Amino acid sequence: MTAGDHAGPPPGDDPEARTGAAADTPRAGSPAGRVVFVGAGPGAADLITLRGARVLGEADVVVWPRSLVPPEVMEHARADAEVLTSDDHTLEDVIQLFARAKREGLTVCRLQSGDPAIYATLHEQINACRRMDLAYEIVPGVGSLSAMAAALGQELTVPEVAQSLILTRRAVRVPMPDNEQLQELAGHGTTMALYLSVRRPRELVADLLAGGYAPETPVAIGYRVSWPDEVLLRCRLDELAATLKEHKITTQALIVLGPGLAAGEEERRSHVYRPNYGHRYRRLGSPKRYKGAGAPPEGA
Ligand SMILES: C[S@@+](CC[C@H](N)C(=O)[O-])C[C@H]1O[C@@H](n2cnc3c(N)ncnc32)[C@H](O)[C@@H]1O
Repeated sequence: MTAGDHAGPPPGDDPEARTGAAADTPRAGSPAGRVVFVGAGPGAADLITLRGARVLGEADVVVWPRSLVPPEVMEHARADAEVLTSDDHTLEDVIQLFARAKREGLTVCRLQSGDPAIYATLHEQINACRRMDLAYEIVPGVGSLSAMAAALGQELTVPEVAQSLILTRRAVRVPMPDNEQLQELAGHGTTMALYLSVRRPRELVADLLAGGYAPETPVAIGYRVSWPDEVLLRCRLDELAATLKEHKITTQALIVLGPGLAAGEEERRSHVYRPNYGHRYRRLGSPKRYKGAGAPPEGA
C-alpha cells in the first residue's frame, strides 16, 4: 500500500497516511484494486486539481455524478474507461462495483462534486471500502463555497464582521440532528452557507428570520457556479424566496448570507499586515531581520 492509501481500519498516527501527502498515482490494474474519491470541483473542467485530473485520466472505471459534474470534466478521463453514472444508481450498485474492482484489481475514480468532504455520501462509501478491505484514497477538490466566493469577488471572513462560517442545510426530506436546528445556528448571525436548501424558500427564510438574521441581511444565490449557465444573484433576506421563484431556481444552488457580504466597500483590514503587528517574518522595528525559516504566519 502506498502513502495516502487507506484500507481496513481507519489509518493510525502516520501523518503521511492521513494526509495522503505522497499520493502516488493509482496503478491501473494493480493486483489489489483501489478506489480514489476525487473532488471534481464545482463544475468548470479547469477547477479540478492537477492530482484529481491525473487520477481521473488513469482510472479503469469512473463513477460520474452527472447532475453535479458536467461532461467537460469527464474529458480528463481515459477514452476507454468504463463509466458508471451515479445519479441513476444506488449506493448498493456502487458498492458492487467497488467489490468487482477489488476482485479484478481495477482502479475506480469515484468523482464527487466540489470537495468530497462536504455532503458527498463519502462516509458510507469509505465504510464499504473498509468492510471489504479495499484500499482507498481521497483527493480534495474546490468546493462550491470557494467557487461562489470567487465568483462574488469577496472574502467570506471579514475582519471584525464575520470570523466564523456556518456550512449547513435545511431539513426537508433528510432530518437534521437535534442540536443543529437552523434557527439556533442562525442566532450566531455570522456568514452562513446553505447547501441543498432551495426547495422550500419561504420556510427557509422564516427559520432564518426567527433565528435572528435581520430582514435586510445581504444574501447571495449561486446557481451552478462556474458552469456555462451560472447564475449569480444578490438580494436581501426578505427578498430571497421571491428572487428564487423569479429565476426558477429549485436545485443546484448555494445560498450564502450574512453581514459580511455587505462589507465589500468598508475599510476593514486584518491584523497580520499591519505595520504594528510583528511576527517572526517581520519583526517590529527591524524589517531587515527576515529569517525565512519555519512556517508563515497564520492568516497571511
Ligand atoms: C450533494 S451537495 C455536494 C457539495 C459539494 N461536495 C461541494 O463541496 O460543494 C450538492 C449541493 O452543493 C451545492 N453545489 C454544488 N455544486 C454547486 C455549484 N457549482 N454551484 C452552486 N451550488 C453548488 C448545492 O447546494 C447543491 O445542492
